[in-house]
Amino acid sequence: MTTTDLNSIRPTPILLDCDPGHDDAIALVMAHRSKAIDLLGVTVTCGNAEPEKTVSNTLRILEFIGAQDVPVAAGCVRPLARPLVLGTADGPSGLEGSPYLPQATKTVEPMHAVDFIAKTLREQTEPLRIVATGPLCNLGLFVLKYPELLSKIKDITWMGGVFWRKSEYITPTEFNAFCDPEALKIVLDSGVPITMVGLDVTMKVLVEEPQYREFEKIDTELGRVVLDWLKFYEKLHRNSMGVGGALHDPLALALIIDPTLVKTRPAHIGVDLTGTYTFGATVADYWNERGLPPNAQVCEEVDSDRFFDLLYSLLRD
Ligand code: RIB
Ligand code: CA
Repeated sequence: MTTTDLNSIRPTPILLDCDPGHDDAIALVMAHRSKAIDLLGVTVTCGNAEPEKTVSNTLRILEFIGAQDVPVAAGCVRPLARPLVLGTADGPSGLEGSPYLPQATKTVEPMHAVDFIAKTLREQTEPLRIVATGPLCNLGLFVLKYPELLSKIKDITWMGGVFWRKSEYITPTEFNAFCDPEALKIVLDSGVPITMVGLDVTMKVLVEEPQYREFEKIDTELGRVVLDWLKFYEKLHRNSMGVGGALHDPLALALIIDPTLVKTRPAHIGVDLTGTYTFGATVADYWNERGLPPNAQVCEEVDSDRFFDLLYSLLRD
C-alpha cells in the first residue's frame, strides 16, 4: 500500500480503556502513532496497579509521547463485586523501568470514565469502536448505567480470557477476566459485539532475542523508553513463566489497524463466578454443546511476524 493510500485511509475513531501497565503503555503508543487510528480518549481502570498509579502512568505516558491533548478519565477504583487483586507483571508503580518519565502536568477530565464514555458516544455520528486492555470494571459499570447507549458502541476489542492454553498454566484464568469476572459477565450478556484477544494468541507474540535486536535498532528516545519497558516486563515474565514478555495489549490494539493479524471463531463464552480456584475462568462452547448462541469472537491464531513488523513500523516512522 502506497503512502498516499495510507494517508487516504480515514482513521478509525476509538476509545481505549486500559490499566497501564507496560503492555498497555505500548498499546497507547501504537494508538497515538498509527495513522489508521483517531484516539478520541483514554479511560483508566485499576488492575496492573492501584487506580491512582494507573491514572498517573497514563497521564505520564501520553504527555511523554506528545499526546497531551488526548483526554483521560479516571474510572473504577476496584472491581464491581470483589476486592481488587493487583496484577504482578509491572512492578510496584505499574510501570517500573522508566523512572525518568517526567511527572505529568496533564490532568484527568472532571468526570468519571463511565460518564466520559457516555459523553463521547453521544458526540459520535457513527457507532464507536472501543479497545479494552484491562479488567472490564468501567465497561461493565457503563452497561449498567447507560443501557440506552449500547447501540452506539460498534464493538469492543478486549485483551482477555484464555481457552485452549489452560494446560500450560497453574490457574485456568487470565488476569483481566480474573480481576473482575462479574464485569466480564455483564459485558458478555450486554449483546455488544466483543472480540476476545486471549492468552491463546497473546502468548504467541513474545519479545525474545530476535525481537530485542529489532527494538535495539530503533535509535530514538521513544525506542529507548519502549526497550526499557520491555526489559523490565520480560524479566518478570522470564522469572514467573520462563518466557519472554508477551505483548498482550499491543496485539489487541493492533487488530483495529489490521484485523487480518488473527483468525477468530464465534463461540458462546461463559465466565465462572463461583469457583474457589476457578472464578474468572472463561469457558468457550466451541462445539455449541449447550445450544447457546455465540456471544463473542474468540481469537485462535495470530501472525506473530506481521504483528511485530507493524509494531516496529509504528515505532520507527
Ligand atoms: O493477562 C494479561 C493482561 O493483564 C494484560 O492486559 C496486562 O496488562 C494485564 O493487565
Ligand atoms: Ca492491561
